[in-house]
Amino acid sequence: MSNKIKIVAVSGSLRKDSYNTALIKAALELKPDDMDIEVLDISGIPMFNDDDRLKNIPESVKIISEIISSADGLLIATPEYNYSIPGILKNAIDWVSKMSTQPLNEKPTAIMGASPGALGTVRAQMHLRQIALAVNMHVLNKPEVYVTFANEKFDSKGKLIHEPTREIIKKLLGALGDRINK
Ligand SMILES: Cc1cc2nc3c(=O)[nH]c(=O)nc-3n(C[C@H](O)[C@H](O)[C@H](O)COP(=O)(O)O)c2cc1C
Repeated sequence: MSNKIKIVAVSGSLRKDSYNTALIKAALELKPDDMDIEVLDISGIPMFNDDDRLKNIPESVKIISEIISSADGLLIATPEYNYSIPGILKNAIDWVSKMSTQPLNEKPTAIMGASPGALGTVRAQMHLRQIALAVNMHVLNKPEVYVTFANEKFDSKGKLIHEPTREIIKKLLGALGDRINK
């Protein structure tokens, strides 16, 4: 049995050539040796409906909640949509937040984000931190990873080729591992 740190990674974009999904792929390359990262697909989660929550929790939500519960930490790459996080990411958090097992409670979490613009998802990440307060996720304060002008930092195959960004992702994953091992 592996005694590596287990991280679950979520991209807030469903786009095939998403920069944020590409950031998660970079994290898979850059993670420390003592860390495993499982990428979680949130595309199958239905729109939150409180009636369904009370009567019949969707199977996809149950599965995702169990995977998050069994992980030591979370890694979230969020796009910025209209100065906030995308609806699919908020929808997934809303669903998981209502599970009686509280998978997000006290979960060590690292966040990052990429945008083609000059602010690199600053506003979305601030909103994500606010949402994290509500569900008591333990989000690392530093390092902050805002990938600006993302269209210049990946090659045509979606590989992160900007060395300073690769370094800061390594630092983020190292900080997440340190937080979990404390
Ligand atoms: C609905 C929508 C709203 C957007 N709003 C913002 C925004 O507020 N700030 C920003 O920097 N980029 C914004 N963008 C551009 C995204 O940063 C860009 O589409 C980015 O590539 C999305 O992330 P992805 O590559 O991971 O899909 C928006 C894009 C969409 C589709």
